[in-house]
Amino acid sequence: MTAASKTATVVPSLLAGDLSRLGEQLDAVRAAGCAWVSVDVMDGHFVPNLSFGPDFVKLAKARGFFVDTHLMVTNPLDVAPWFAEAGSDIVTCHIEAVEDPGLALKTIRALGVKSGLAVKPKTPVDGLLAALDYCDLALVMSVEPGFGGQKFMADVLAKVSSLRDEIDVRRRDCWIQLDGGVNAGNIAQAAAAGADSLVAGSAVFGAKDCAAAFRDLELKARTAFGSKKH
Ligand code: DX5
Repeated sequence: MTAASKTATVVPSLLAGDLSRLGEQLDAVRAAGCAWVSVDVMDGHFVPNLSFGPDFVKLAKARGFFVDTHLMVTNPLDVAPWFAEAGSDIVTCHIEAVEDPGLALKTIRALGVKSGLAVKPKTPVDGLLAALDYCDLALVMSVEPGFGGQKFMADVLAKVSSLRDEIDVRRRDCWIQLDGGVNAGNIAQAAAAGADSLVAGSAVFGAKDCAAAFRDLELKARTAFGSKKH
């Protein structure tokens, strides 16, 4: 996976996978052209849920995926080394969980992986913009973090547009990732606003045919990318 590209990529989230056949589902989306998946890590403190450990990163890496690890934890810099060690290509922490976002991003990069910074729906994008120089991926949450299958919050798209404008003006190589409630009904709007990495859990792994769902979402996203209709 090269650095942020000028197209949109759909990133299936393992959180929505069927753990009894996750390998099969990953193989199916891989065969459909998927190259990037997202691993949601939850600690039961930062969010009221528990999810995956580093072994899930290893499972995806063993299948040749580019993997971003989204740390929804109160101590991201303590656990970041575990996920870097497991093979994550990007490790993303939440701005709400760190004292100094710029330093957190530099610390993550020092692990030899790309750095990501996430904002919850109600968190303004200013802190993210201020740390942009150290950020390889800016994650805008379109649901309150903690659970898959929630309703998309379209009002966060204004943050996506602000990030898109700033990243383009500064000619930064930084993905804008949107995560939460992304589906066939809203992905075009999200990509049009400037998101070039679109996390989709339920819309892919909750579908009867996850490969077909992935292909449909990626076509919609790539067609609409950057046209700023939102
Ligand atoms: C929330 C998670 C979810 C997940 C995607 O904390 O980050 O957003 O990745 O789940 P869906 O696509 O089912 O909303």
